[in-house]
Amino acid sequence: MPFQLPPLPFDHAALAPHMSAETLDFHHGKHHQAYVDKTNHLVAEAGLEGQSVVQIIAKSPPGPLRSNAGQLWNHSFFWQCLTPDFEPPAGRLAALISKACGTSDELLGALSDAATAHFGSGWIWLLLDKGDLRIEALHDGDSPAAHPGMEPLLGLDVWEHAYYLDYRNARPAYAKAVLGKLVNWAFVARNLDGDGLARADQG
Ligand SMILES: [Fe+2]
Repeated sequence: MPFQLPPLPFDHAALAPHMSAETLDFHHGKHHQAYVDKTNHLVAEAGLEGQSVVQIIAKSPPGPLRSNAGQLWNHSFFWQCLTPDFEPPAGRLAALISKACGTSDELLGALSDAATAHFGSGWIWLLLDKGDLRIEALHDGDSPAAHPGMEPLLGLDVWEHAYYLDYRNARPAYAKAVLGKLVNWAFVARNLDGDGLARADQG
């Protein structure tokens, strides 16, 4: 079966005013859908049906298939990282944040700084690295699934299509709002089990 566009885990209007329904209509309904469609087309062309998105990303050389499948997975993960019902980090995650950065605000500052500093399109990832937290920026459609050993906890889309309708060119304002108001820390904490890649996989 071809890959599908996963439904958003919240109503399109639920994240406003930090992320508008119009942004989600375009970002999910147009951009993410296009990555699904292009991946399906390229998978059929290459005769790779029957493999999961993560398998395709992991096995493909750099190029259109890996980038489109990467974006299919990245966005499928990203929607799960957001929630209208914000709760601060707790438990083991809060302890890891404290160990790595001191406070949640400092972690958010570091993620926001990485988002602001990243040149061009890409993603900011919070990763679990040998039991500790680590931040890494990846370009364009690159994905944690393409890098053996990367255990994703949280992803932030810093492509212009993620923020231009709501924030125009102000990526720092977008990063501050999403990180401060919309992160689903319960989902981030669940990914401490190392199964983050599987949570946005299909096929
Ligand atoms: Fe995006």
